[in-house]
Amino acid sequence: MDVSTAGAALAITALRLLHIVAGLLWVGAALMMSLYIEPTAAASGADGKRFLRALYRKTNVARLIPLSAAVTTLAGLLLYGVLSYHEAMSSPMGVILSVGALFGLLAFGHGYFTVWRRAGEYARLASAVEANEETLGPIEAKMRRNGRVSMWLALVSLALMAGARYAGPIFA
Ligand code: HEM
Repeated sequence: MDVSTAGAALAITALRLLHIVAGLLWVGAALMMSLYIEPTAAASGADGKRFLRALYRKTNVARLIPLSAAVTTLAGLLLYGVLSYHEAMSSPMGVILSVGALFGLLAFGHGYFTVWRRAGEYARLASAVEANEETLGPIEAKMRRNGRVSMWLALVSLALMAGARYAGPIFA
């Protein structure tokens, strides 16, 4: 791709904006859920469980994280494809970006297979009249544990991506 044309520059700027804003939403929401909302709900007994289940039933939180993660990853892959032939990709910045991308892909894969695929099903079960502790309790515990792993992977990715440009040349 010829990145020197005005159209290409505009497309790359739009992709960067999409990637960064969606990444912010993904990591911010994951952090909020894993470090604040879920531990508070877990420490609040039956009220906490009711609150968490209502959060999944009545809001789009079950879709917010997977959707922002998908946009971040897709825009990131496209940016990576565009930049992969740039000579700066073999610089320290490029290497750090690549490791960051690897952590981002791991966060996405882990989140998809261990949390998000179950979140829709969990929201459905939480809405069912016959929803009970034996079915919901273990799913909640698993989602909480796995969500935390994905959050840390995404956070490492963010730190590497955001810090990369300070380690070497800046892409045009
Ligand atoms: C948790 C997931 C991710 C977050 C929070 C994130 C965040 C960021 C941020 C903040 C930047 C801007 C860095 C700067 O301009 O100084 C960036 C750049 C970049 N990211 Fe990600 N990223 C994530 C995942 C990914 C993935 C999975 C890929 C590709 C497979 C990727 C590829 C890129 C590329 C190529 C750039 C450089 C873009 C450019 O300068 O044009 N990112 N990322």
